[in-house]
Amino acid sequence: MGVSSNTPHLLRAARGEVVSRPPVWMMRQAGRYMKAYRDLREKYPSFRERSEIAEVAIEISLQPWKAFQPDGVILFSDIVTPLPGIGIEMDIAEGKGPIIENPIRTQEQIDGLHPLQPDESLPFIKTILQSLRAEVGNKSTVLGFVGAPWTLAAYVVEGKGSKTYSIIKNMAFSEPAILHQLLAKLSDSIATYIRYQIDCGAQVVQMFDSWAGQLSPQDYETFALPYQKRVFEQVKQTHPDTPLILLISGSAGLLERMNKSGADIISVDWTVDMADARMRLGKEMKVQGNLDPGVLFGSQEFIRDRIHDTVRKAGNWGHILNLGHGVLPTTPEENVAFFFETAKQLNTTRSEVLTAAK
Ligand code: CP3
Repeated sequence: MGVSSNTPHLLRAARGEVVSRPPVWMMRQAGRYMKAYRDLREKYPSFRERSEIAEVAIEISLQPWKAFQPDGVILFSDIVTPLPGIGIEMDIAEGKGPIIENPIRTQEQIDGLHPLQPDESLPFIKTILQSLRAEVGNKSTVLGFVGAPWTLAAYVVEGKGSKTYSIIKNMAFSEPAILHQLLAKLSDSIATYIRYQIDCGAQVVQMFDSWAGQLSPQDYETFALPYQKRVFEQVKQTHPDTPLILLISGSAGLLERMNKSGADIISVDWTVDMADARMRLGKEMKVQGNLDPGVLFGSQEFIRDRIHDTVRKAGNWGHILNLGHGVLPTTPEENVAFFFETAKQLNTTRSEVLTAAK
């Protein structure tokens, strides 16, 4: 412990060490674009089985590790996985995403929720994370993840994904006190869950506030940011050394505000130029991202140019190379392989690699 050479590359970069090249992983790197995943899905058609039977989830998490050796291996799971453990039944429907049969919309329902006890409701998470750590050793970094309070509340209140967020916004703007109670309860359980993931082996944890970009900046400051902070503060009290990443989809209008969340690393999407993101977030903040996932439909030359451009703009400190959001289901696997190979050949301590990309 403590010796840099024993600490995996992504974790070192996430902690702020200068490294020879940006570490690289991909959001949704396990999933439908991989044939191995689609084959296994035939054997286990239910998402809850795939993610909650530890052996299956381990195998899926390791599929991209075996194929591409990314610097980060993320646990195969979903942001709604902890909900049954606080009293909210859910399912994940093919092609649709999370479904909550009985959405939470009243004071009585919120009063009926209980704090998460991960050892009781999520024992498979321990098996998965411990096995992933044992499997990758020091060669890669194991990432955990959670949904943020606002994004989980969106699923819990709407009952499913939404385009307009009408139901939760109705609650936010007409009965804010009720929504604030729900957000507070979710925050405390999410913090418990992150701590549990770290205790079980997660070395970096990403929080997805996927739908916070649907809020105006002023409402983001009321309904999302304070609860992101609440989660991160609780985790930092007990686990100060674990780097925490924050992602919001469509965050271009929120970047400066995200800086106040307490996250160590901000995941940036492709609607912001990486050079602009660096300027807006300041020298102290580390960044992740931010290629358009659609770039992986382009030629190898195009993919390589975009990688070099992003890496040059991010500079040689505090950058985790990634897409700006999840890899798309129809992406050619060979292009994903090429993305990882190219990224792992970079050497940002040799400045000609970067200037050559200009
Ligand atoms: O990155 C990884 O490899 C880990 C896998 C992962 C999944 N869900 C597996 C999954 C992660 C990080 C998530 C997080 C998640 N889940 C988010 C936040 C990330 C984001 O995209 O902003 C959200 C919003 C969800 C909710 C959810 N679950 C959605 C929107 C969907 C997709 C619906 C669809 O079919 O397009 C799911 C289902 C889901 N979770 C899939 C995967 C691989 C696809 C279904 C399948 O493979 O059978």
